[in-house]
Amino acid sequence: MCGIVGYIGKEQKALETIISGLEALEYRGYDSAGIAYLNNNHIDIIKKKGRIDQLKKQLDFKIKSKLAIGHTRWATHGEANEINAHPHKCGQVTIVHNGIIENYIELKQKLENKGYQFKSQTDTEIACALIDYLYQKEKNILKAIQTASHKLHGSYALGIIVDNDNSLYAIRKASPLIVAVKDGEKFIASDVPAILKYTNEYYLLEDGDIVNLTEDNLTFYNNDLEKIEHEKMIFEGNIESGKKNGYDHFMLKEINEQPKVILDTINFYFDGSLESLKKNLPNLNKYQNIHIVACGSAYHTGLVAKTLIEEIAGLPVMCEIASEYRYKRVFYNDKTLVIVISQSGETADTLASLRKAKDDHIDTLAIVNVVGSSIAREADCTLYIKAGCEIAVATTKAYTAQLSILSLIAIKLACIHQQIDKKRFETIVKEIKNLPNMMTSLINNKQYHDIALKIYQREDIFYLGRKIDYAMSMEGSLKLKEISYINSVAYAAGELKHGTISLVEDKTPIIAIITDDEIKNKTISNIKETKARGAYVILVSNYEEHDQYCDDNIVIPKIDPFIQPMLTIIPLQLLAYEVAKLKGCDIDKPRNLAKSVTVE
Ligand code: AGP
Ligand code: GLU
Repeated sequence: MCGIVGYIGKEQKALETIISGLEALEYRGYDSAGIAYLNNNHIDIIKKKGRIDQLKKQLDFKIKSKLAIGHTRWATHGEANEINAHPHKCGQVTIVHNGIIENYIELKQKLENKGYQFKSQTDTEIACALIDYLYQKEKNILKAIQTASHKLHGSYALGIIVDNDNSLYAIRKASPLIVAVKDGEKFIASDVPAILKYTNEYYLLEDGDIVNLTEDNLTFYNNDLEKIEHEKMIFEGNIESGKKNGYDHFMLKEINEQPKVILDTINFYFDGSLESLKKNLPNLNKYQNIHIVACGSAYHTGLVAKTLIEEIAGLPVMCEIASEYRYKRVFYNDKTLVIVISQSGETADTLASLRKAKDDHIDTLAIVNVVGSSIAREADCTLYIKAGCEIAVATTKAYTAQLSILSLIAIKLACIHQQIDKKRFETIVKEIKNLPNMMTSLINNKQYHDIALKIYQREDIFYLGRKIDYAMSMEGSLKLKEISYINSVAYAAGELKHGTISLVEDKTPIIAIITDDEIKNKTISNIKETKARGAYVILVSNYEEHDQYCDDNIVIPKIDPFIQPMLTIIPLQLLAYEVAKLKGCDIDKPRNLAKSVTVE
């Protein structure tokens, strides 16, 4: 969500550095962009609605500037337009902001009483005026930022520059911000891709920390303004993850990376022996119930895990959307494990749910992709997926990698509770070895485009499934909605007749999923009910025989239920991709969406 980039450097390459940094953060999602740069002792601000390309057209890259801040905005307060775009300037202070200032209305009134007038509808402009007001009063910018941080409620990462002060400042609370140095140049950024062109070494700011970057010095302060040191982090991924490498879209590239990603993730924790699960995964013996908390696709992986753990290991699992969990009355005990799942590790609601469990002294386990992210650092135990940098807003490889770790956790729990025997364990091990090949063949299946041709002009598409297949249909439906903008809903197949079947008419596409033998015939009956009302049925299943009840069918290999979902998801991702492509949508950067949702 939103991108911040800041630069100070002797090379005076501020404009191009900010723009290339913002471009590297485009995947986070945004609706307008802007830059403030020092130009002959004056701060120039240029902002544009829409893509960074629009902003670039307004910039004179011949200008040599040593200090700048840039921003891609994902509007929370006020529509996406030029006035609301960042940076904002009040008095002598110019800022870019990621996050939400929750008490901005109250602060606005106070600042208006002090004579400030506001041009935008944003909460950010209020934070800017507050820092300026405190700066005018205290004549010390560090103290002004520190005092402002006590008055601002909500979440923020701020990049700050001040008139006649050749410095860059930044502070963060509950929104990510990193700092990097390369020779005579220094940077702040919301995420590592923005600085990878220069260096893979960076520092992570902690909540409340303030940093001051000048041409010669880099100084970190804690919130008491005491100087502190930060440990240097090394980014493990490589710059290739930021390139499409011949694929039309990052999403397609990432779908194709899945066989390797699940192999890397599984191999990291599991060598085929039970011993490795004991050694590499946390001790789960003591837990009698599990809460899984996450948002969006990560929540869908939680639903898959819930079915696996409950059905096979026999442990009760509550899987809850984080934005609900954080505010509801939760019943746990000292035998509860709270598992939070997040690709970015920064999702505000998931982070808040983690903190809630920790405040209640409940053990927490995080499954995260981004190394060093807030959730990864705060959980009692963190298991990293090995998905690498995921650029497309619609997650694919991180989702599957999350599934792979959750499958291992479910297998481990099933072993602890003696729910699977040696023979089944050995079969799973064999199938896991073959999983990347099976995934590759499914990715290379040629059916998706032809099926997409039949449905891409429809306004509504329904997904059906029972139990684990219902969880899979929810993710399939989300993928389609996110990137193709087609209205789509996933239903538990048996629930359709209780209302929604009224929406089925001639040629309404229904994507039905059947991989669970036990309820296969039940779902088939539900499919027939839709077919009888004219539906166009596309069946994704792991068995061959089909009679009159489907119009198209995609057959996936049948493997153990513990790992089956990693195959089931492939046709669903590729159908959504092909539909969105036929519709000419901006697949990697769908409208209104952000990759990392750091606001509630
Ligand atoms: C996935 O395609 C979505 N963009 C979204 O639902 C995402 O899964 C959700 O916002 C959670 O993000 P996280 O995994 O980074 O916490
Ligand atoms: N709340 C701010 C705004 O709406 C910042 C949004 C963002 O994080 O991009 O301008």
